[in-house]
Amino acid sequence: MRPIRIFDTTLRDGEQSPGASMNVEEKVQVARQLARLGVDVIEAGFAISSEGDFESIKRIGGEVEGPVIASLARAKEADIKRAWEALRDIPKRRIHTFHSTSDIHLKHQFRISREEALKRSVEMVKLARSLVDDVEFSPMDATRTELPYLAEVVGAVIAAGASTVNIPDTVGYTVPAEFFEIIKYLLGNVPNIADAVISVHCHNDLGLAVANSLAAVSAGAGQVECTINGIGERAGNCSMEEIVMALRTRKDFFQADTNVHSEEIMRSSRLITKITGISVQPNKAIVGANAFAHESGIHQDGLLKEKATYEIMRPESVGLGSTRLVMGKHSGRHAFKTRLQELGYNLPEDEMEGAFQRFKRLADQKKDIYDEDLEVLVSETELSRTPEVYSVMGLHISSGTSEVPTARLKLKMGETEAEYTCGGDGPVDATYKAIAALTKTKSTLQKFEVKSITGGMDAIGEVFVTLQDEGEEDGKTVRGQGADTDIIVAAAKAYVNALNKLAAKKTRSGGIKPEL
Ligand code: KIV
Ligand code: ZN
Repeated sequence: MRPIRIFDTTLRDGEQSPGASMNVEEKVQVARQLARLGVDVIEAGFAISSEGDFESIKRIGGEVEGPVIASLARAKEADIKRAWEALRDIPKRRIHTFHSTSDIHLKHQFRISREEALKRSVEMVKLARSLVDDVEFSPMDATRTELPYLAEVVGAVIAAGASTVNIPDTVGYTVPAEFFEIIKYLLGNVPNIADAVISVHCHNDLGLAVANSLAAVSAGAGQVECTINGIGERAGNCSMEEIVMALRTRKDFFQADTNVHSEEIMRSSRLITKITGISVQPNKAIVGANAFAHESGIHQDGLLKEKATYEIMRPESVGLGSTRLVMGKHSGRHAFKTRLQELGYNLPEDEMEGAFQRFKRLADQKKDIYDEDLEVLVSETELSRTPEVYSVMGLHISSGTSEVPTARLKLKMGETEAEYTCGGDGPVDATYKAIAALTKTKSTLQKFEVKSITGGMDAIGEVFVTLQDEGEEDGKTVRGQGADTDIIVAAAKAYVNALNKLAAKKTRSGGIKPEL
């Protein structure tokens, strides 16, 4: 099998999805999961674009082992130096630099000649190569670039030291047969092409990102850039789960495969949905809720007789249906720690203890605890590394068909605790009014979603909220999440989590301290 490298850009291009911004802790959490998934390269950010991206790259490089860590950089000296500063202490590092090459971009956006674009690209690859051994170059808008010029650029950047050349379909314009020919053309017309890996980076504007990437693999590409759930700029990027499972399921056809541990796919997908709030459509290939659900009687009949009749992939191979009853009230520390380690979580000792205490509390409320429940516990533990300005200490709700819903809420705010009782249209409304009154914050609730983690009456409920701070002029929003067996408590935690993120944002931008 020809090995195909998976370059994951969920944390960079994926984060360019409207509303998908992630904070540093969340990015570290995603990177850990990407390492468990077995991707080859993590594009951890665009170092010069923000302090948050810079810090994320550094943190991920320091905390996540396995994949190469890359930073994006325009073909500009300042960008490359900033990428180097973020990457310098990371042993497996890559600078990914890019410059547009299509006449449309050069004429209208950059107002420079092809010669100038070529010169800048070569100079910046050389600069990057003087700092790190592993340099990737992308001729942006490659699929709308005249082929002989594209070949000239590709040859020149390889000669300058790029060991990966990525061919982006920046605007999702190409189609499979054409993209196949583009890759074949480069392989046949760039004399030094064997000195680099050809990568592809396809956008999904015509719904062809995965098909185009597969065509490129057939033509000889050795790296595919993709994102979990296909999130990304506009219609998104090539979806990681689809490209990986297409290659694996049709190994016979492609004679190629990746290093991805496909059993981690569902977990990765759920994590991205949780963090970004971007849900997956039910009929989405591989990770959609219906992807393995057979409705038709004829199909069900066939499946009962022989799975291969209608099932081309086993649900277990993507981590579905692996829900295991793991523990309950009587499970001890050792069993808890061992199962977390089996799931790939290695928490520091103090955090492990905190997670174990939460597990014990959960076990008092919920008889059977599944792997998915443990994931929630770990996720809460990892996210609690974000400084908590506010935390829910107690909540009493009174509501019913013939009474005004009331919430009595106790909140910890910094070092102090305060209590407030408030009525509302419903228990969630009453709780949210109490939180707003205690924290003296004004924000608009834009989205409220509830999901259950596992089945059963005692399942953990997860609440996701999107809040817009009324003080934020640029309309920026934050996402909050909370989980609990009591859905109103989960809702309170989600709101408070969003307020903590807003407070962190304001403190980072040198702004307002929360009013206590
Ligand atoms: O879509 C694109 O062209 C990109 C480049 C920066 C690789 O994201
Ligand atoms: Zn892109």
